[in-house]
Amino acid sequence: MAGFDLPNCELGVATAATQIEGGDLDTNWHRWAASGRIADGSSPARAADHWNRVAEDLALLSELGVKHYRMGLEWARVEPNPGEFDADAIAHYRDEVAALRAAGITPLVTLHHFNLPGWLVDDGGWLGSGMKVAFGRFARRMVTELSAWVDEWIPINEPNVYATLGFSEGVWPPGEKSLPRTIKVLQVQAEVHIATYQMIHALQPAARVGTANHLRAFAPANPSNPVHRLASRASDWLFQRAVIKAMSTGVFDLPLRRPSGVVPGRYYDFQGVNYYTRSSVKGLADGMATGVPVNDLGWEIYPAGLTESCRWIHEAYPGPIYLTENGTADATDAFRSRFLYDHLQEVATNGLPIERYYHWCFTDNWEWAEGEGPRFGLIELDYQTQQRTMKESGRFYADIIAHGGVTAEAHQRWVSSQHYRRNTEVSNG
Ligand code: FCB
Repeated sequence: MAGFDLPNCELGVATAATQIEGGDLDTNWHRWAASGRIADGSSPARAADHWNRVAEDLALLSELGVKHYRMGLEWARVEPNPGEFDADAIAHYRDEVAALRAAGITPLVTLHHFNLPGWLVDDGGWLGSGMKVAFGRFARRMVTELSAWVDEWIPINEPNVYATLGFSEGVWPPGEKSLPRTIKVLQVQAEVHIATYQMIHALQPAARVGTANHLRAFAPANPSNPVHRLASRASDWLFQRAVIKAMSTGVFDLPLRRPSGVVPGRYYDFQGVNYYTRSSVKGLADGMATGVPVNDLGWEIYPAGLTESCRWIHEAYPGPIYLTENGTADATDAFRSRFLYDHLQEVATNGLPIERYYHWCFTDNWEWAEGEGPRFGLIELDYQTQQRTMKESGRFYADIIAHGGVTAEAHQRWVSSQHYRRNTEVSNG
């Protein structure tokens, strides 16, 4: 099957505020960069300078032909001091979502994508005593300000990644290595998700509010080793299933504990899945199999995992699925079109109600602790000049959108000559 149709899934692209906007702000990430914790020494102050280039980027979105755009908000801009909102920053976001709507593009807004204002970091961040009240105030304000144009929301992006990298591995802010605090932060994020879900529905009854959870396919490194099998199931539960259950249903199973006041219910209108890779498990540390196709960051490229992840999510939590992120780090655009083809083919054929697919990322972006190195964009970014250039994979994506699927000609032109590298062939594998 060279070509295929995508009749039931609408395509878009995704971004996050800290990764594209730029700006000299006081956030947890600007502080983390200032303390020398980014691989290439960069900071989010440059990024794609999107804050000053909204019109140019909107033209590129239209060139891609996307009908959907997932974007984030930078809390530190709109509330630079506790309880003090910046009218200009809010107006900027209002203008942006209004312009998207005018261009026929539906915004899906993430309230929190790993980013906290500095004043909240000083107050203990996610585990500080003021977090829930502060999040509620910020979320209510932004939903009220933007609801004339926005009715699709994600309260919190990837609580599991934030908790694991920031509180277990210590490689993201706040740089902690504590299992009890990892569990606590998952619990608090799930509680805040539920409170935000309820608050948005009270303000905007017709809104669609969902998750954006990072899902991994977990597999025992050696399937006949019982330790590997057990570790794989434990990782799966601890990393994703427990927190997704808590957020989606208000049922907190061990090791999580239900916060008082949370009532079991249904707290999602769509299940958002960010799917990238598979882990090969021997113990609790993350691992990759050898001899498998990989991207520039060494992540296994495993398209079947998209279906595996969406299938169990759908069985556990029925309803629409949005693929809120999927993409790959590929500096030379050597295999992104094949990656797109292979993952969209899963969407086209797996029979699951995947209503949306948001490719990560719209443009090359500042990739957290990895800095400016990894290249995830459909649009190439020259960080020095801020020049944007459509990649061939971007042209392929535009062609898929224009045709409602992959034509045989598009497959021939963009996909047929592309191949993945295996991690046995690359020096850092
Ligand atoms: C996801 C994040 C997103 C981006 C991609 C590559 O975990 O949500 O911001 O960094 O990975």
